[in-house]
Amino acid sequence: MKFHPARPLSLAVLVLVLTACGKPSSDQASGNIAKAGEMPDVAKKYSCNSCHAIDMKVVGPGWMDVSKKYQGDAGAATRLSDKITKGGGGVWGVMPMPANPKISDAEKKELVDFILGLAK
Ligand code: HEC
Repeated sequence: MKFHPARPLSLAVLVLVLTACGKPSSDQASGNIAKAGEMPDVAKKYSCNSCHAIDMKVVGPGWMDVSKKYQGDAGAATRLSDKITKGGGGVWGVMPMPANPKISDAEKKELVDFILGLAK
């Protein structure tokens, strides 16, 4: 009876697992209300975040969309600032934005700078 010593495993078994890990993500629009956390505090003080999110429409347009719409528009800061004070509709849909008569100029500037800066 011949004895065959076990041969060392001479060939490494290379298992190349090509997993499909590069699936395109298609869920970008989920759960973005939480982004209100990225808004300046003054946005919460005036409850802007109850109608607006940064990257999606809620009641009002997403602020990123607002920012994109007015890039390069030199008069935008003044018009948006005015709209925050007086409210009004017709630009994004039939739903009007409510007025904020008590907001200060400094607070408006902070909000408008923030919004217009989003798409830069
Ligand atoms: C009750 C809901 C509501 C609240 C609260 C609200 N908005 Fe709006 N906002 C809207 C709607 C609706 C529009 C779209 C108006 C339109 O179509 O002209 C809008 C539009 C805007 C626009 C774009 C305006 C334009 O003419 O393109 C800006 C900027 C804006 N809001 C900022 C703010 C800020 C800053 C606050 C907080 C001080 C705020 N919003 C609070 C509903 C709201």
